[in-house]
Amino acid sequence: MQSNRYKFDMNTGIELHSQAIKRVQKAIALGELSAACLRMLPAETAHDLALHALKKGWHRVLPRPEVLHLTHMMKSHVRTIGPILHPIGLAAGFDKNAHCIDALADLNFSSLEVGTITPIGQIGNKKPRLFRLPAQRSLINRMGFNNIGAQAVSQNWKNNPPQTKVPIGINIGKNKVTANEAAVDDYMKSLDLLAGLAQYFVVNISSPNTPGLRELAEPGFIKSLGHMIGPTRLENVWLKLDPDMTKPQLQKLTQTAAEVGFAGLILANTHAVTWPETGGFSGAPLATRACQLLEWCHEVHNGQLPMISVGGVFSGSDVYERLIRGASMVQIYTAFVYRGPWVVTGMLLELRHELQLRGFRTVEEAIGSHYE
Ligand code: FNR
Repeated sequence: MQSNRYKFDMNTGIELHSQAIKRVQKAIALGELSAACLRMLPAETAHDLALHALKKGWHRVLPRPEVLHLTHMMKSHVRTIGPILHPIGLAAGFDKNAHCIDALADLNFSSLEVGTITPIGQIGNKKPRLFRLPAQRSLINRMGFNNIGAQAVSQNWKNNPPQTKVPIGINIGKNKVTANEAAVDDYMKSLDLLAGLAQYFVVNISSPNTPGLRELAEPGFIKSLGHMIGPTRLENVWLKLDPDMTKPQLQKLTQTAAEVGFAGLILANTHAVTWPETGGFSGAPLATRACQLLEWCHEVHNGQLPMISVGGVFSGSDVYERLIRGASMVQIYTAFVYRGPWVVTGMLLELRHELQLRGFRTVEEAIGSHYE
């Protein structure tokens, strides 16, 4: 009898009894084990194998955690992206060529950002270019926008349209060979080639692995690009910024982005490092900075410009910290590598707990509450 009792207060909406909770936790643990096995391979090989497995549907052999009936608590609406079932999405860079959208939706992400896609396909930097730092639960990458190009992605997408209803974003960048003076044309080409495929676009001016790219993160460029895109299309275009700007730089850009009419800000890309490898640093140590970025931007727009928080989100408690600082949702990448295929389910259980502890009934209630 005991095992069939509901373990949590039904007012919170949790509809799993203790047996079911155990099954969910077991599935999550097996997922973590599968990720640990993958991490025995060199980092990029593991990534390629994971993508291949997802494409082939091999993830379906893993025990799947049961559905958590948490929607009424977790759902929210992100301006220009639409309704989302919960606040945890996948960050750009995992599925650069949009090959595994439906499989990734199976892993319970509430939104998926594919790319970065450049107008012309490019092979990226020389390998090795992806490194793990397990003790720090972090990664360093210098992939360099390896992708098949906007034309090929668009063709594949049209031949094989994703079936999922999960909102999809397309992250776009400029080719390495394109001079910064011609960068606007690169973004416009990709926007045109990929138009109509996804719910939203992201202009990436923040990767540390394309020389000169971060120089585009200044008001003049944002204004020219915004002008070229035009007010109607701009409503669906987000800007992804880097975490290495000073407070005045970030606040100036925030103000410009709001004035020009961008949909919102994605905060942030990887932190540029040169040691122990050159590239972009991601994972747990980015958490404090990511919270600070939300606060700096909020000071400028006072909740008027939507923000998505990325960087070092590893637990439900991390998600909570971003939401209260005004993020409409979060995205994860490195936590997916370390916590495995059911990381989202695990984080949602933790987030539910965190919200209950702090006296919130819903995600929407928590968003921005830090400033009240
Ligand atoms: C990334 N990231 C990234 N971002 C982006 O806008 N375009 C990209 O192509 C990539 N590529 C990429 C590759 C790899 C291997 C990693 C680890 C990361 C950055 C990513 O989207 C995210 O902003 C950071 O990784 C910080 O989040 P996490 O990883 O700490 O959750």
